[in-house]
Amino acid sequence: MQLPDPALVVLVGASGAGKSTWAAPRYRAQEVVSSDALRGIVGSGPHDLDASADAFGVLETIVEARLRRGLTTVVDTLGLDPTRRLAWLAAARAAGLPAVVVLLDTPEAECRRRNSARDRPVPAPVLAAQLKTARDVRRQLEAEGWDLVAAVAVESTADVPVALPDS
Ligand code: CTP
Ligand code: MG
Repeated sequence: MQLPDPALVVLVGASGAGKSTWAAPRYRAQEVVSSDALRGIVGSGPHDLDASADAFGVLETIVEARLRRGLTTVVDTLGLDPTRRLAWLAAARAAGLPAVVVLLDTPEAECRRRNSARDRPVPAPVLAAQLKTARDVRRQLEAEGWDLVAAVAVESTADVPVALPDS
């Protein structure tokens, strides 16, 4: 799958869908702006939810600064919040960069299985809520005006190394 570069690339998918794993071998570390990583920087660790607001504040600043410079920017968050998505899309448009979504279309059972195998699983009701939102997201994305919505099936991510950090 050939995506435009430079571009804004917004990853979308529930926890455990494989967003970070998909991005890691395809982009330089500096190109990937991760809410988990930023929670680890402005908070006590990637799972410090109390640090979310600060982490997203920093994330928006980094994303906008990179896009203004025409730099490829991969937004590694759940991508399930339409308000945030539309702000990133607008920033890419303002910068004249193509704006694409990579939808990690991983089966729900596989997300649950991977989640329970992790060191710090997301609580089951939280994952269930994410999966519910993700069910409707494809239709929303089609209405939002992205240049490309690329769905990645679980098979095509299966060949990437699995020993990557859980970021
Ligand atoms: N994984 C896997 N096979 C894949 C993709 C991911 O076994 N094809 C595993 C990873 O090794 C990891 C877990 O599934 O242990 C979650 O993958 P990750 O890429 O971290 O998922 P994210 O969508 O980034 O989850 P989060 O939103 O929690 O960051
Ligand atoms: Mg991740």
